[in-house]
Amino acid sequence: MSDPRKRRLFFALWPDPDVRRQLAAASQSVREKATGRPVPDENLHITLAFLGSVDAEVFACISEAARGLATESFELVIDRAGWWRRTGILWLAPSRAPASLNRLVKALWVALEPCGFWPDYRDFHPHVTIARRCRRASLPEVEPVHWPVPEITLLESHTGQRGARYTVLDSWPLR
Ligand code: 2AM
Repeated sequence: MSDPRKRRLFFALWPDPDVRRQLAAASQSVREKATGRPVPDENLHITLAFLGSVDAEVFACISEAARGLATESFELVIDRAGWWRRTGILWLAPSRAPASLNRLVKALWVALEPCGFWPDYRDFHPHVTIARRCRRASLPEVEPVHWPVPEITLLESHTGQRGARYTVLDSWPLR
């Protein structure tokens, strides 16, 4: 049985309803040309830092780390679809990630280090997972989605028989 004192947490860019609608439409057009199990529209996000199973006591430290970030807000343009053969992940992504996004992820991991996390930003590939277990894809052009990013969000992941469900725990504004 899983430890009830532990929570599976991650930081993400969590789209507002309008951006979510646009991402869902773009996902739909890409998934029509691919195999795989679709990610529900309400789950679409970009993971910034996956923390794994975290003890409840570390929660205050995580919040403090997020509160102290001084990274500026930015805009993403999601304009590209792709597919990772090894993991079977079908994704949408920005073809040019703004420097602010990379700065944000690095600053976040550095701030999390005193909470006991090992920085994990060197291999950061920002993407929105839109389907899993993809085995074949013929990728179409993506109608660009403009995504203003004013904040970062901490989420809890619950895995059940019907797949993952995410709960927003808190969010912190960027500068
Ligand atoms: P992804 O879909 O963008 O790959 C919540 O579980 C999110 O954290 C997932 O959607 C996944 O993002 C990411 N994630 C899950 N397990 C992970 C792991 N072991 N390492 C890094 N990211 C992970």
